[in-house]
Amino acid sequence: MSRARPVVAIDGPAGAGKSTVTQRVAAALGYFVVDTGALYRTVALVTERAGIDFEDAEHVGELAEALVARDAVKLEGDPHGGSRVILDGADVSGAIRTQSLSQGASKVSAQPRVRAALLELQRSAGRAGGVVLEGRDIGTVVFPDAEAKIFLTASVEERAKRRFEQLVAAGSDADIESVRREVVERDQRDSTRPIAPLRKAADALVVDSSQLSIDQVVARIVAHVRDVASKLGSG
Ligand code: DC
Repeated sequence: MSRARPVVAIDGPAGAGKSTVTQRVAAALGYFVVDTGALYRTVALVTERAGIDFEDAEHVGELAEALVARDAVKLEGDPHGGSRVILDGADVSGAIRTQSLSQGASKVSAQPRVRAALLELQRSAGRAGGVVLEGRDIGTVVFPDAEAKIFLTASVEERAKRRFEQLVAAGSDADIESVRREVVERDQRDSTRPIAPLRKAADALVVDSSQLSIDQVVARIVAHVRDVASKLGSG
């Protein structure tokens, strides 16, 4: 299908700066943000609230399918880079950002039924174009035909440091060593799972943010998307 405006896929490991970069790129272009990690986090939140183990594939699978079947989860974006997750009418955007749900999301996202349940939701959120989707498998599985694919990465040290600073800013008493361990553990799980592992799409532009400022990363990606968009005849 040809789109007037591109689908922009931004994939990469935890802590590479995807969320900030995605929001800023979307705001610069007037595109909508689709934070796909928020969907896995919401499944983890519902799992935790139900007292189900994150690795109980049967029950977590049922739960994810039920959430989608009753249209309980909505991603709400705006053209200024904002995005919220609504669960049964309640804004859970803040509630899904705990360390426990980071690990939980990583565990539930390794389950095929969960991924299958969330796939169409992600596709319908992005299909029209003019969107920036942030995730792990957007360029490889969700939108293999995305017009612009970016693989945003950074060294483990840099990513752990950034995650730690985010947690501290959010009032958590995290320690840097445990944050580093969790980054490594999550990378390992996300990139070795049998289904839709984290990996770079063959045609993705790799941006390593270790030595770049956010402004430089955003500028590089925006320039790339504008270039792609101009070839689609939009701009
Ligand atoms: O980007 P994030 O930290 O909010 O993602 C939470 C977890 O969800 C992450 O550990 C991997 C998983 N995830 C995924 O498997 N596929 C995606 N497209 C997005 C996130």
